[in-house]
Amino acid sequence: MKILITGGAGFIGSHVVRRFVNSYPNYTIYNLDSLTYAGNLENIRDIENAKNYHFVKGDITDDLFVENLFKEFNFDAVIHLAAESHVDRSISDPLLFIKTNVLGTANLLNNARRLWINGSLVRPGTRFYHVSTDEVYGSLGAEGYFTETTPYDPRSPYSASKASSDHLVRAYHHTFNLPVLISNCSNNYGSFQFPEKLHTTYY
Ligand SMILES: NC(=O)c1ccc[n+]([C@@H]2O[C@H](COP(=O)([O-])OP(=O)(O)OC[C@H]3O[C@@H](n4cnc5c(N)ncnc54)[C@H](O)[C@@H]3O)[C@@H](O)[C@H]2O)c1
Repeated sequence: MKILITGGAGFIGSHVVRRFVNSYPNYTIYNLDSLTYAGNLENIRDIENAKNYHFVKGDITDDLFVENLFKEFNFDAVIHLAAESHVDRSISDPLLFIKTNVLGTANLLNNARRLWINGSLVRPGTRFYHVSTDEVYGSLGAEGYFTETTPYDPRSPYSASKASSDHLVRAYHHTFNLPVLISNCSNNYGSFQFPEKLHTTYY
């Protein structure tokens, strides 16, 4: 099985890459990351020489590059984490978030569709896993909780761009039968996290 993980040099992605490389020696893991300010290969230095691991430097919004990558490696699954992920930055540069999070996701979906869907036939065992955020549901007060059926109500350019990407993932499932999975986790913290997430910065 060949798995493309995007954003694997970032905070959560580096943990996902490490887990897959170490736990599934029979799978080949391709880590696609453009190494923005948030990406750091030091986060995955310990597994960089593993036999089942390959790093690919590239941009998910580059359609020709992504198309060639899918053709060359014929992935069976995609775990999509690459994103602009910091809310404060989305207020100072919304278009970058729309480009990376919306267009980048659409580009990956389109290439997965080309590779896995043939008319009404879906290649068995394929899956596009999109890592999203609970912020698509809006803001919670001191009380309450979201569920998967909570209406979308994004409040920042970041969460609106993630909500848009969720809608595209769902649309590719309903329109083309693409096998997809979306998770909407709340805030994570831990090792290899970029320090900006631990405090609020005003731009
Ligand atoms: N951190 C959290 O608490 C949290 C919570 C909910 C959801 N998420 C989601 O999880 C995913 C990972 O979050 P994170 O905190 O690890 O992010 P991060 O900012 O630490 O890492 C993002 C990674 O994506 C890469 N990247 C950015 N633009 C790219 C592009 N155009 N092409 C290729 N690579 C690109 C960066 O270089 C970086 O390595 C994101 O999709 C985010 O929306 C994060």
